[in-house]
Formats: sequence, structure tokens, C-alpha cells
Amino acid sequence: MSVWKTISTRILPVTVATAVLGGTLIAQEPGWVKHVPEADRTRTNPLVNQPDAAEAGQKLYGEKCARCHGAHGEGKGHSPSLQTKKVHDLTAGELEWVIDHGFSFHRMPAFDSLTQDQRWQIVSYVQSLPVSK
Ligand code: HEC
Repeated sequence: MSVWKTISTRILPVTVATAVLGGTLIAQEPGWVKHVPEADRTRTNPLVNQPDAAEAGQKLYGEKCARCHGAHGEGKGHSPSLQTKKVHDLTAGELEWVIDHGFSFHRMPAFDSLTQDQRWQIVSYVQSLPVSK
């Protein structure tokens, strides 16, 4: 088989298919919330009545999230503010899900290496942030 034939019959179709599929996924990005399964979305934060949870979450936030989302969740560069009505209106279950899974081709990383309790602590902290926009 000639080199061109290999390119046109094997490599080209795969490249085109990848580009089309990639484009479709990118187009769906902003709607990550709709990918959260109902059973995950409706969970409540088990740490909701623990006063130390938000404090512990703030510490974890400083280590894991602040470099992108800013020291107090005010947003930075391409990383959105977490002090928005949109984030404030998310359920605790949705927030824990997005921290666990990440989205958008890893621009928002998945923090599945944290324990679930640590993710709930971060949820407590994020939900304690003011809504500034
Ligand atoms: C490497 C940078 C980076 C780190 C670290 C990071 N994020 Fe993100 N995060 C992003 C980006 C970028 C987006 C938006 C992606 C998009 O819209 O395509 C995002 C989106 C989000 C969203 C959704 C906001 C919305 O309006 O839909 C939440 C909530 C969030 N991040 C919370 C966190 C938390 C909590 C942590 C720490 C555990 C964290 N992020 C760590 C980059 C980061």
C-alpha cells in the first residue's frame, strides 16, 4: 500500500472522526450540571452541621483550588469565580460531583484522590463564600 493510500484510507478518517467528536464534546461543556446523575445531585452534605467542616475545607481549598480559582474563589484567568449565583445555586451533591469528576477535558481537574469527607469539607467552604456577582 502506498504511503498516500495509508494516509487517506487509515489516518485521515480517524483524524476527521476525532475532530468531529472532540467538537461535539467541547460544545457540550458549559452544561456539566446535566451530566450529574440524579442520585448524586440530590445528596446532602453529611457535614452540614459540623462547624469545623468549612474551616477544614478552606485549608484544602488553599492547597488544591486557590491557584486556579483565586485565594477566595473570586476567579482568575480562565478559571471561573465560585462567588456566583450559579455556583451558589448548585446542590451540595452537584458540587461534590464536579470536584470528584472534574470536567472540560481536565481543565477543571478531578479530585478523586481526596477522600469523600475532604470533598464535602470543600463543599462546605465553597457554599460559605459570598455571592458577589
Ligand atoms: C488547574 C486549574 C483548576 C483547579 C486546580 C481547580 N479548578 Fe475548578 N475549574 C477550573 C476551570 C478552568 C473551570 C471551568 C471549566 C469550563 O468552564 O470549561 C472550573 C470549574 C469549576 C466549577 C464549576 C463552576 C461553574 O460555574 O460551572 C467548580 C464548582 C469548581 N471548578 C470548583 C473547584 C474546586 C472546589 C477546586 C479544588 C478542589 C477546583 N475547582 C480546582 C480550573 C481549576
